[in-house]
Amino acid sequence: MGSVSIQSLDKIYPAAGKNPAFHAVKGIDLEIQDGEFMVLVGPSGCGKSTTLRMIAGLEDISGGTISIDRSTVNDLLPKDRGIAMVFQNYALYPHMNLFENMAFGLKLARTPKEEVMRRVTDAARILGLEQILDRKPAALSGGQRQRVAVGRAIVRDPKVFLFDEPLSNLDAKMRVSMRSEISKLHSRLKTTMIYVTHDQVEAMTMGDRICVMKDGRIMQVADPLTLYHQPENLFVASFIGSPPMNLLRGRVERREGRLVFVEAAESDAVFVPLAGALAQRAEKNLGHEVVLGLRPEAIYDEARGADTTPLRARVELSELMGSETNVYLKTGAGTVIARLHTERRFAVGEELVVYLALAKAHLFDAKTERVIR
Ligand SMILES: Nc1ncnc2c1ncn2[C@@H]1O[C@H](COP(=O)(O)OP(=O)(O)OP(=O)(O)O)[C@@H](O)[C@H]1O
Ligand SMILES: [Mg+2]
Repeated sequence: MGSVSIQSLDKIYPAAGKNPAFHAVKGIDLEIQDGEFMVLVGPSGCGKSTTLRMIAGLEDISGGTISIDRSTVNDLLPKDRGIAMVFQNYALYPHMNLFENMAFGLKLARTPKEEVMRRVTDAARILGLEQILDRKPAALSGGQRQRVAVGRAIVRDPKVFLFDEPLSNLDAKMRVSMRSEISKLHSRLKTTMIYVTHDQVEAMTMGDRICVMKDGRIMQVADPLTLYHQPENLFVASFIGSPPMNLLRGRVERREGRLVFVEAAESDAVFVPLAGALAQRAEKNLGHEVVLGLRPEAIYDEARGADTTPLRARVELSELMGSETNVYLKTGAGTVIARLHTERRFAVGEELVVYLALAKAHLFDAKTERVIR
């Protein structure tokens, strides 16, 4: 069992020399189920590593409670918490071979020899390292070294694995293959894993649930698709998804009896009539400043009946991706990106009409930045 419960967790790094005190984690609450793969994601400096290190016991907490398996671990030493951590910088011992590297922690804990043998061989088998156990780290690829670092964690048979950006030292291809290896490892071991990354693709592909952080606070916790389709706020809406969600700032108005969204712009404002559920949400915010959000794939190059709304635009740039084309369109005050399923080439400066699937649009309060439901 390895549930993790975090309540009102705070971290204030004390002032040191010329640096003032810094409030890195601001009263977060998070419940992680036994066996869950939870990803902590957010921009650099948002407090991911600090949170993970507090769970590990490597960093003192300034307030709140951390429980593992329903018992508070606030005052327990790292080695007594039933966790194992894998770092970005996996620092293997260069003079030891792989077997010794993986066995080292167990030997320190005076684990009986046969037990060490069994656990290291098991881990090596799971990670496909059996054939090279007598090699030294210098004779390994980056991916193999990373696997040894994971192996060192596995042999401890922890209740919870903690990963802090374990793949960021690897090249792009290796990262993709290690990503799926860690996912497979999770489905095999079924042990709770908490995985820190700033890479939203890693978060989306690996997490059972994702916790999005910003400035020491949690912005939303949800499974990947909920996060993608129902972002709670502007931050999550713009952080998850690539190319990012288009966000148009403006106001809801009533013109000739119809509700419309009018972009805030000196001239050429985007003007879209609103209908259906979107209009209902907009109506409650008549006259308010709002942000209209539309993902690039909710903009088409042809009309789909009454479900789409035409918009005139001019091509600024197009990126042919193979199966689809990302087209950057100058419209109204800014640029809107459309992901079009076509191999057609678009000329820079070309005028065209695109079609917005407004039923898929999001509406946010411009001041609070929260979604309008
Ligand atoms: N020992 C420290 N003393 C003072 N401030 C610190 C200390 N460690 C971290 N911080 C600050 O706390 C904030 C959170 O740091 P943290 O390492 O948790 O960020 P992160 O989300 O892991 O970022 P990254 O993606 O860059 O690793 C940052 O602003 C950082 O500068
Ligand atoms: Mg970090």
